Amino acid sequence: MRKNIVAGNWKMNKNLQEGQDLVKELQSAVFGKALKCEVIVCTPFIHLATVGGVIDKNKVKLGAQNCADKVSGAYTGEVSAEMVASTGAQYVILGHSERRAYYGETNAILNEKVKLALANNLTPIFCIGEVLAEREAGKQNAVVKKQIEEALFDLSADDFAKIVLAYEPVWAIGTGKTATSAQAQEIHAFIRQTVAAKYGKTVADSTSILYGGSCNAGNAKELFANPDVDGGLIGGAALKVDTFMPIVEAF
Ligand code: PGA
Repeated sequence: MRKNIVAGNWKMNKNLQEGQDLVKELQSAVFGKALKCEVIVCTPFIHLATVGGVIDKNKVKLGAQNCADKVSGAYTGEVSAEMVASTGAQYVILGHSERRAYYGETNAILNEKVKLALANNLTPIFCIGEVLAEREAGKQNAVVKKQIEEALFDLSADDFAKIVLAYEPVWAIGTGKTATSAQAQEIHAFIRQTVAAKYGKTVADSTSILYGGSCNAGNAKELFANPDVDGGLIGGAALKVDTFMPIVEAF
């Protein structure tokens, strides 16, 4: 089902105590409010079990920022989708541009991760997006299409329907430079058309497509007002309740 979502991506920030404090503060802030979106926090792995224990999942949902591309075994330092799910997390960010750029995650690896996430009843928040040179060359549509095709298009329609997409232009992440509302709508509509061409209009219309990249209190309302922008994946502004809540309330 297509829904509005505001998901915080904490990245590698907050120690365990700070993470717990932030979630508690966030829960108090959303308490009693009739929000028009689902609120998710995607914490570092180490926080999941503890935060999963204190979180009220009716108010704030929990997600990881990654999972392994293998089921289990001798993969030192890795965390499996099953382990993530066992903490009570319901979501997992996959294919974030930082994972692609710094940790060599290819569409083929991400395809394995997506399948393992789904097999463990986790909802992937699957990130796609072009770098600046690709945008300047007008190749953004071709880039996101290839990412979706290679990582996701061997899924059944039933499985694809469980995925949330996040369009994050790499040039907008952590830079303070946001895509304009019109740029976001244009490419979100293209992404939805690409999904429709493969899986049909019903699946495409029920897919939530989030925008990410320097989304903040000042621009969220305009971005979320677009018909094909179903919410945001929020980095820097998700680290404080004061900056995150106005985005949650932008719907
Ligand atoms: P940002 O990060 O909001 O700090 O730009 C977004 C993201 O990388 O998910």
